[in-house]
This record gives sequence, structure tokens and C-alpha cells, in this order.
Amino acid sequence: MKILVVGNGGREHAIVWKIAQSKYVDKIYCAKGNAGIWEIAERVDISPDNIEDLKDFALKEGIDFTIVGPESPLVKGIGDVFGSAGLRLFGPSRKGAMLEGSKAFAKEFMKKYGVPTAKYKVFDNPEDALSYIRSTDGNIVVKADGLAAGKGVSVCNSVKEAEESIKRIMIEKVFGESGNKVVIEEKLEGEEASYIVMVDGERYIPLPTSQDHKRLLDGDKGPNTGGMGAYSPTPVIDEETEKRIKEEIVERTLRGLTKEGIYYRGFLYVGLMITREGPKVLEYNVRLGDPEAQPILMRLKGDFLEVLLNFYEGKDVNVEVDDRWAVDVVIASKGYPGPYEKGKVIEGLEDLKEEKDIVVFHAGTDIKEGKVVTAGGRVLNVCGLGNTFGEAREKVYNAISKISFEGMHYRKDIGARIFRKIS
Ligand code: AMP
Ligand code: GLY
Repeated sequence: MKILVVGNGGREHAIVWKIAQSKYVDKIYCAKGNAGIWEIAERVDISPDNIEDLKDFALKEGIDFTIVGPESPLVKGIGDVFGSAGLRLFGPSRKGAMLEGSKAFAKEFMKKYGVPTAKYKVFDNPEDALSYIRSTDGNIVVKADGLAAGKGVSVCNSVKEAEESIKRIMIEKVFGESGNKVVIEEKLEGEEASYIVMVDGERYIPLPTSQDHKRLLDGDKGPNTGGMGAYSPTPVIDEETEKRIKEEIVERTLRGLTKEGIYYRGFLYVGLMITREGPKVLEYNVRLGDPEAQPILMRLKGDFLEVLLNFYEGKDVNVEVDDRWAVDVVIASKGYPGPYEKGKVIEGLEDLKEEKDIVVFHAGTDIKEGKVVTAGGRVLNVCGLGNTFGEAREKVYNAISKISFEGMHYRKDIGARIFRKIS
């Protein structure tokens, strides 16, 4: 079979790496990929957002199955365009992708179908938003309605901070049209976790649990990022909590989608806050998480492409999971999540290819004059398996010590806080 993977990051490298092990694969193409992906998949020079060209490419090459990594093409309707062309693609339609594409839509949907989430209000003009903020103590969360590459959310501690967020989003329009509306919501307290399921209508299969680390610096300090590291499974989701997540969140969501006449087929990621009252939804994503996909896929046993194909066809599937722990640490460029440096030569990658239970997934990398160089904010993910959390973590940090590029930055405490707390 010919498989097309759409996207450029660490998540897409993990997808390509995993399905390359499938007995069904003849050839994998990736649009556009990165230096790590191009070692196993053929590079397709079409941007992930250029849906029409991707469709033409898939038809011309006779692509049998397409897997989409990032949200943007899904929100723009790649699911509908490929579907109408008779191409098989794992990912929701444009309507289904609204769960991530519009936070106001997602909140209204959750309210309608009784999915637990933070209390909220939606505003479509800055004056009303500002006057509402002045009636609160400023301990609120301000979110741009549309996509903002993970940067549209401000968790505020004062009225002044919240006012500034509104000004940035709605007046200065730093996220463009995504700031036409804002969602202002109650700040939830608790522990965050990620729960990802494969969905086909009301049928779903959970993937292993995980926890991301959104902040740039150790001790959960510094600005929010796309994610600086993740591990799987997470003790934050125990058996009882998982039962509640399934019943109160996943199943209500899927029934709601059916009632709205939306047929959803693809990954669905619920970003959760596990509060004292139970799990509540912070956000939906209509795709795998990045970096969560890396430790999750590393723990899946067997032929994941076979699982996806059978699931897509409506057949029963069994997802077998390695009992071991997986830890993934992101290495970023100097300056990230702001403007960052590019073109720095990365040393040490070759030797790590032989390392047992360690995989280096590339994110923002490119090839220049035969050398692997940095080309993005998040550059690499070092992902490892161990019999205990501590063993996996040690292997990963050991591997990182062999990698170097100018200005590299990574967190030294991935998973540490939660494991200190429970041990
Ligand atoms: P989102 O993109 O909506 O997941 O928000 C990004 C990050 O902001 C989350 O991962 C949380 O750390 C934080 N966040 C979002 N909503 C809330 C909330 N209601 N209460 C507390 N923190 C939040
Ligand atoms: N790691 C968070 C996300 O993929 O949105």
C-alpha cells in the first residue's frame, strides 16, 4: 500500500516510524516532513495546508490511505476534499474539526451535551469583554476563539493581565481572524492530562494515557509552548478517573456529534484538568497530540497501520500496549516559543541510532550541505522506554547528553513533579 502522512513535526515522524514497520506498507510519502522523516518516507514538496494539491498528488500517485498530523488542514476541510475524491483519509470532516477550530463552538457543544468543562462566556466585541473582565477578580482564562498554534490562551492572575490579553487578541488582532471572538472562562485547579481515542462515529478505542508539559522552563515556569515533553502512561488518570472520562466525556461527546449530524472518524484528543470534582475538558483537539503521540506510539505493540485500516473499515481491533513506560523530551531552539535561530548543525544523531529503546524523532530539522540542521522552534524529541518511569527517564537524559547544537534548550524535569508527588 501507498501511505501519505501530512505534517512536518515530531508527531508525524513518530507516525511514519510506526507505520513503516507495517507489513502492509510498500511506500510512505510525507508532505513535507523533516530530515528524520525523509530517511524513511519520500518527501512530497506540498505544504500541509495546500489541500487541493495534496488531493491531486494522492490521486495521481494512487495513495491508498492518508493520515493527517496537524489540525490546520483538518479545520480547512482536507477530510471533505479527500472524501469527495474517493480517497481514504483518517481524520474528521471540516464540521467535526470545529471542535478544535472554534473554542466557542466547542464550549457550546459541551454545554449542550453535558460534557464537564469550565464555566465560560463568549464575546464578539472587545468593549463587552473588557467590561465583563472588570467585574471579575482577574483570575480567569482568556482564549482566542480560532486556531493560534497553541498560543491563544492566557491564564490570567489580574484584571490588568486579562485586559491586555483581550487587547492583543481582539484589537491588535495578533492571531488575525482567530481573534474575532474570545472565550473567557473560569480557571480550573488540578492536574492536566491528555486522553486520546480513535473514533468512528460512536465507536472508539482509547490509546494509552499521557501527560504533556506545556511550559518552557523547569518547574512549569515561563511561557506556554506547543509542548516540551510528555510521558505515558500517566498516574494522573487512574482506573476510576478513566471510567469517568469515558462515560462523562468521550461517550457524551460522540453521542453529541451524532445528534449534530456530524460523522467523526479520526483521532480525538481531550485535554483534561483532573479537578477535585472529577475530570473536566480544557480543550478538544481533532488529532494526535505533539509530543504525546511520540511516547504513545512508542508503547504500541503490533501493526498500527493494520489497526488503523481495520478500524477505518469498521472492524473490531485490538490495540496492544507495551507495559513499559515511555518518556519523551523535546529539544528546542534558542528563542522558542518566540523568534528562534535556524540552521545550526546538530551533532550526535548517528550514534544514537544504535541505542536500544531510544528513538530520536525529528521535529524542526532540515538537511543543508549533507548535514542535519535546525529548522524550527521544537527541533528534536528524544523518546525512550524503560521498565520503570525512572529508567526510561534516565535513558532519555543520557541520550540527550550525546546530542548538541548551538543554543539547544530542553526541560530537565519531564514527569519529575508528578512522580515526586506519588512516591
Ligand atoms: P488550551 O489550548 O485550551 O488547552 O489551553 C492551553 C493551556 O492553558 C492548557 O494546557 C492549560 O494549561 C491552560 N488552561 C486552559 N484553560 C484553562 C482553565 N480553564 N483553567 C486553567 N488552566 C487552563
Ligand atoms: N501537546 C499539546 C497539543 O498537541 O496540542
